Amino acid sequence: MFDRIFENNKKWIAGKLSIDPDYFTKLAKGQHPEFLYIGCSDSRATAEDLMGVQPGEVFVHRNIANLVVSTDNNLNAVVQYAVEHLKVKHIIVCGHYECGGVKAALNPSDLGQLNSWLQTLRDVYRFHQQELDAISDSQQRFDRLVELNVKEQCINIIKIDHVQRSWYKTGYPQIYGWVFDVRSGKIKDLGLVMEKEFASIRSIYDLKPDT
Ligand code: CO
Repeated sequence: MFDRIFENNKKWIAGKLSIDPDYFTKLAKGQHPEFLYIGCSDSRATAEDLMGVQPGEVFVHRNIANLVVSTDNNLNAVVQYAVEHLKVKHIIVCGHYECGGVKAALNPSDLGQLNSWLQTLRDVYRFHQQELDAISDSQQRFDRLVELNVKEQCINIIKIDHVQRSWYKTGYPQIYGWVFDVRSGKIKDLGLVMEKEFASIRSIYDLKPDT
């Protein structure tokens, strides 16, 4: 199995060099990605592959069910680095249909170590319980929670101080909510207007930076 991977790596290197002999010399010089992608760890929901982008084009953070949790040091470091140093113009939160994490949140049970992580998802369910419980088809309810989770995580992004500071200073990063449909391969843009979302919560979350 690993033989196959190292063999693939050799072929990948050869492929890149056949197009540009200086490919890796250039790659080693640094990164200037315009996108930060926050997605699910699910092995089917790859970042670069589904977007068709190359090394250097997207800064990536993945965790179970693409959550933006304010006490997650890993996430905070990624966002701060992406916004303050890389100065990414776009932050994408990408969920996916058939997400195991979202499914687990819909079915209350004791999952040990995962309980605390899934609580954020259960909170999303609670925020939108009226809408979700009104959907009689369980597949549609599952799909809708995937979408609402993406929206709530986009809202969590705009609560972050680094994001707000940069927003006030430059107007960037812009934030997008997507869902990857594993059943068709399509990326669905949820069409969220984050300026509108921020306007509706700023009386609570606007950190009013000095800059
Ligand atoms: Co998932």
